[in-house]
Amino acid sequence: MTTPFTTTQTGTPVASDAHSLTVGADGPTVLHDRYLVEKLASFNRERVPERNPHAKGGGAFGELVVTEDVSQYTRAAVFQKGATSETLLRFSSVAGEQGSPDTWRDVRGFSLRFYTTEGNLDIVGNNTPTFFLRDAMKFPDFIHSQKRLGASGLRDADMQWDFWTLSPESAHQVTYVMGDRGLSKSWRHLNGYGSHTYQWVNAEGERFWVQYHFLSNQGVEHMSPEDAERIAGQDADYYRRDLYEAIDRGEFPSWDVYVQVMPYEDAKTYRFNPFDMTKTWSKKDYPRIKVGTFTLNRNPRNFFAEIEQAAFSPGNQVPGTGISPDKMLMARVFSYPDAQRHRIGTNFNQLPVNQPHAAPVANYMHQGNMQYHFNGPEHRVYTPNSFGEAGGPVADPLRGVESAWESDGELMRSAQTLHSEDDDFGQAGTLYREVFDDAAKARFLETLTGQGLAITIDEIRERFFAYWTNVDAELGAKLRSEVSAGHVPTPVAEGTGPDVEPVGI
Ligand code: HEM
Repeated sequence: MTTPFTTTQTGTPVASDAHSLTVGADGPTVLHDRYLVEKLASFNRERVPERNPHAKGGGAFGELVVTEDVSQYTRAAVFQKGATSETLLRFSSVAGEQGSPDTWRDVRGFSLRFYTTEGNLDIVGNNTPTFFLRDAMKFPDFIHSQKRLGASGLRDADMQWDFWTLSPESAHQVTYVMGDRGLSKSWRHLNGYGSHTYQWVNAEGERFWVQYHFLSNQGVEHMSPEDAERIAGQDADYYRRDLYEAIDRGEFPSWDVYVQVMPYEDAKTYRFNPFDMTKTWSKKDYPRIKVGTFTLNRNPRNFFAEIEQAAFSPGNQVPGTGISPDKMLMARVFSYPDAQRHRIGTNFNQLPVNQPHAAPVANYMHQGNMQYHFNGPEHRVYTPNSFGEAGGPVADPLRGVESAWESDGELMRSAQTLHSEDDDFGQAGTLYREVFDDAAKARFLETLTGQGLAITIDEIRERFFAYWTNVDAELGAKLRSEVSAGHVPTPVAEGTGPDVEPVGI
């Protein structure tokens, strides 16, 4: 609603929005100018803490349409053929702060929310199917190493490579981020991945493990390091602008939703530990199965209210979906709502962007800062009660099945051990040798050469050579010779050149 005049926060017209109340025309400003005080006080409180990782981002709303029948794998209403669900997708960079340039090399966040009839389903992933770590204990250290040094407040290549080379499980994901996926052409031109293994349960109670893949219908494209550097200076909000303007023009980006499905028992003996997110599942072993398509067709009306205050969590699952014994995922279920209580406030889930749009909320949690909705029955604030007021667990035997892996000793033991083909460098080497073509390999070498030249500490540079030699002996040898020669790059293929900026993650 708009009015032709300015009002206070409580709706009273104000005398002036340009001049403070003063004692006479030239006198001092008075403290009882309540609108001035209100305006300044509001301004002083405009900032909320930014997300710790993934601070810089943008997003839009749209719709998921399920086109295939996957009911043999999940009973989730959201994934039944013909179902449609309102959708929110937030893209982000990981390491940079709110104002950081979009085109710094980094992994891109891909946070997806489906507002389903059974509550919100969030899949909070990245544009890579893997991650740098397999134990949450290292996550804060990892993010610290990608951000800024304590004393100088500067980003630092030594710090980044120190952490990575002391954490060999990072090699697969670092291969992705130093490759073309680290510099996407735009948010529209990248694939999203759930990255973890999640669970699906069908109506018969049969359990499956799944990996979500969201394939861009715009294609997967990258930009050259030179373009990225130039654009970082010219337009720090390049990705955010591209998405907003495309949707504004009516060019609606879309992604096809696929899953890899693994029968429950296979997880115990699969050649790669499927709960170790530094690994992928071979598509030969578990081919992608199509589920449907989602399209982004509405920009936010208020960026702060709808994107900045969006609170995603991998713990937001629905009947027929669930988490898995991936140690990273279990920790994330705690970490996100904890961050959001701090960042946004106790009742963050009551904000319009976070409340379920297609399902009711009913429980006995109440009060706290900024409560707006009344969650529970009319009068009682406790359960059990003697008055027939709603509440209590849902009469659905499958809710127990959906997390029953916790008490499957064989599964839990297999989830924490190496499987027959597990090692830190094997899949990274396969990605480099078998997925990158010759031009991509050449760009990769140029990027790594730039990184090697940015390292100033000999011990870390030696570990850098050893790390890449473990990924691929020939790559390691070339890298050593290029960096040692103080290599001056020559163009080798489209989109080449050194990438000497301190990298993100
Ligand atoms: C144990 C490991 C991890 C921890 C403790 C962690 C923690 C966090 C926290 C605290 C936030 C900010 C949440 C907020 O303020 O709203 C965040 C954001 C995010 N994280 Fe993680 N994270 C972990 C691993 C991962 C992994 C493995 C992925 C991807 C596969 C990921 C993707 C994201 C994304 C995309 C966001 C941005 C969410 C948004 O768009 O609002 N994180 N993470």
